[in-house]
Amino acid sequence: MKLWGGRFETGPSEVFERFSGSLHFDRKLIGADIRGSQAFARALENVGILTAEERATLVSAFDELLRESSIAAFYDGATDEDVHTLVIRKLKEKTGGLADKIHTGRSRNEQVSLDVRLWLRGEIDSCRSLLVDFLEELLRLARTYETAVIPGYTHLRRAQPVLWGHYCLAYFEMFSRDLERLEQARARVNLLPLGSGALAGSGFPFDREAIAKDLDFAGITRNSMDVSGDRDFVLDFMYAASTTMLHLSRLCEDWILYSSEEFGWMELGDGVTSGSSLMPQKKNPDSLELIRGKCGRVWGDFNSLYVTMKGLPMTYNRDMQEDKEPLFDCAYQLAGCLEMILGVTATVKLHAAVPAAAAEESWAVATDLAEALAKAGTPFHQAHKIAGRLVLESLNSGKKPADWTAEELVKFAPEFRPEMVKLMQPTEGMKSRQVVGGTAPVRVSEALAAAEASLLGYRNTV
Ligand code: ARG
Repeated sequence: MKLWGGRFETGPSEVFERFSGSLHFDRKLIGADIRGSQAFARALENVGILTAEERATLVSAFDELLRESSIAAFYDGATDEDVHTLVIRKLKEKTGGLADKIHTGRSRNEQVSLDVRLWLRGEIDSCRSLLVDFLEELLRLARTYETAVIPGYTHLRRAQPVLWGHYCLAYFEMFSRDLERLEQARARVNLLPLGSGALAGSGFPFDREAIAKDLDFAGITRNSMDVSGDRDFVLDFMYAASTTMLHLSRLCEDWILYSSEEFGWMELGDGVTSGSSLMPQKKNPDSLELIRGKCGRVWGDFNSLYVTMKGLPMTYNRDMQEDKEPLFDCAYQLAGCLEMILGVTATVKLHAAVPAAAAEESWAVATDLAEALAKAGTPFHQAHKIAGRLVLESLNSGKKPADWTAEELVKFAPEFRPEMVKLMQPTEGMKSRQVVGGTAPVRVSEALAAAEASLLGYRNTV
């Protein structure tokens, strides 16, 4: 059975059918397709195409189809062009000629937009809820090691000491923006395209607002040609997903490093690591590596549709069928990676003494010294030079910051004051970073409390 064919003298060739068919992937949309068609049956009743009784027959046949479609055998031997054709064929098997009315004033161009929107809305909701769980985990990790100090890095060289909580909150910010992006994408997805027809608007006087309400959409699209030719709403989600993956990938890279023997700060749970078939001692961070790897894959998904859309003439073109596989993959990978990172955060342990020692032994405190000199009246450029010379002298003589006494310091440069020796402790200089957004303990604890309050807000909207 086909939804077209009258004007053709012969049917499609076997190779064309095989090449163009989409059922093997768009069957994922069957739930959305059926739900959308049930709402459409109600709309057809409202414009007088179906009687109440016909509508009821069709709606309950769709209910049966929905139940049956959860069993794999439902698709046995199905050679339909796409999921929309399959659903109508099955509907016809149940309701006979009545099924011929279901496509009145409807095009697959709007139907596919509707189905994808319904499906994607659900996926976004699951990803949002996983992302909120992950935000909560970041805050839990910040609280668990509330006083832990780590060296913050630039160029992957120890730069300045920061609180572990400050580091966790940096990711909290990034992932909160990702949540916002997902929500923005959802708002663009959450509009009813039905009523647009193939491209020119349906010839039947549907109450589009009523259909939108029926399907829980926040509103309706405004232009039928736009609906037929647009996949921005898919791209918006894929961009949000790509940026979330980017952030996940960077977090994974950090933790792969931090859990390595070289850093030794972190211990990953046995349950999320794997061993080597040859080297008995290995404990590899495969879960994190795979998330980092899948980031490339998700970007590929996004890029593939981005490029597909470029240069398509208005309005619908069959090229657009190529949106689905990357979209499905992108949503699946994002949810999978969020689930996996939750598994990692649940079992990760910070050996707080190791990064604290790294911050103490290195010259991460050099900026604190230079700034203290500047505060005491030495022009910063001079202060920078003095602190730099102190570092060089210490490196040459094998001295750690904690090895310096107040007397030695003042002897080294008269600009130093004896009390400045306490800045050799990373926790000391940190206190001066009280600017909003800084790592001073008072600011971090405020920021943590503010983040916990935002999290409550996110929970209420998920
Ligand atoms: N399988 C098509 C897609 O995914 C559905 C729309 C088909 N429309 C058409 N005019 N051939 O885009």
